Amino acid sequence: MKAIAINGSPRKGWNTDLLLQEALKGAADAGAEVEMIHLYDLKFTGCRSCMACMRKGAEPAKCYWQDDITPVLDKILFADAVFFGVPIYFGEITSQMHALIERLSYILLTYDDYSKKLFHGTVNCGCFYTMNATQEHFETMYAERMKQSFRVLKKLNGEIVEYPCYDTLQFTDYSKYQAGTFDEAHKRQRREEQFPKDLAAAYQIGQKLCGK
Ligand SMILES: Cc1cc2nc3c(=O)[nH]c(=O)nc-3n(C[C@H](O)[C@H](O)[C@H](O)COP(=O)(O)O)c2cc1C
Repeated sequence: MKAIAINGSPRKGWNTDLLLQEALKGAADAGAEVEMIHLYDLKFTGCRSCMACMRKGAEPAKCYWQDDITPVLDKILFADAVFFGVPIYFGEITSQMHALIERLSYILLTYDDYSKKLFHGTVNCGCFYTMNATQEHFETMYAERMKQSFRVLKKLNGEIVEYPCYDTLQFTDYSKYQAGTFDEAHKRQRREEQFPKDLAAAYQIGQKLCGK
């Protein structure tokens, strides 16, 4: 069994990365071989419209454009579970995550028949969203957008679990930044009281999506 985590945050060791590390621990404890991929370490773009994947006779679900994301697309399709982690930037997923989703979406599409399945395997997916927003703000402003951004994952035929992690700590020392809107004491309290629960939930999701 193989599980991979894809970190769509540029920051290693921060909220998104830590959640993904816990999901991978859960997966490993369920018996999976695990791998972390940091998107911001890779050099790649969104779909280049080279049309190689759309040619008659092209291998289904194969991206022919070669850059650092090409092997990651293959890894996604060969995994048993994939954990996508992304901070919300301006109400959207980050640009690198969007570029990955664009590449994945195009290789799973044919203009011959929009409803045709090009991938017949099963990949369970966990989607972890981190944000400054509260639960209420997420639910009214972002939840539907996030579902839409990751809608291609339905084509992977597996279970999809979403986990929003609200009101995260963004700075190590708020006093050094122009961050007057935030109450540092509240943020620290969230980090101490809520974030360990988020990590525990990520671990459980990792286990569950790897069949435990
Ligand atoms: C460029 C940028 C834009 C952001 N936009 C939003 C936003 O629209 N809504 C929100 O709730 N948080 C926003 N945030 C905060 C991050 O989503 C939040 O700090 C997240 O936990 C960061 O993840 P990380 O700690 O793993 O890097 C933004 C942060 C940055 C750097």
